[in-house]
Amino acid sequence: MARAGERAQGLDRRSVMMGAVACCAVGNAAYAGPEDALPQKGDRLVIGDGAKAGQPVTLEGLPVGGELVEAVAVDAQGVKREGSRFAKIILVRVAPDEVAESQRAHAVDGVLALSAICTHQGCTISGWSHETKRLSCFCHHSEFLPAEGGRVAKGPARKRLPVLPLAKGEGGTLMVAGGFTAKPGPGPA
Ligand code: FES
Repeated sequence: MARAGERAQGLDRRSVMMGAVACCAVGNAAYAGPEDALPQKGDRLVIGDGAKAGQPVTLEGLPVGGELVEAVAVDAQGVKREGSRFAKIILVRVAPDEVAESQRAHAVDGVLALSAICTHQGCTISGWSHETKRLSCFCHHSEFLPAEGGRVAKGPARKRLPVLPLAKGEGGTLMVAGGFTAKPGPGPA
């Protein structure tokens, strides 16, 4: 039978181990900072890559008929939300009357923001045709309709691309008006 001193030592060892587990769990939870969060209401948008990376996204820089632009959300403290690839945003612009009525509240003057992550197997979407108004994924050639809420125009993807609601900021800049309309990334229809 264990003596009182040995029992006390055993309890102490268990206490230390449980304390270590609690410490690390707390540490891991605290590690997810604002840079790891998805875009949120009130964030501003900056250009995500190329020579103008970090500059504010403006309506002037997104002409109708122009190229797809990658963007990053930045919080009020200036933290870029680029810790998770699911936070990646793509912007395209169409004529305002080409935006489906159901989507007009999410668009600004024909500018539409969507998740950049293909809902088939998670590749980054980089193709945009102003003629067909379709975004395309070069991994397996899925196509999406940004002006129709990211609806799938051509598979194998089955789930629409989540939309990021936009608002107009000062000086023609673009802001985030709310979170993605669905969880970004691959998933069932
Ligand atoms: S990952 Fe985009 S079509 Fe397959």
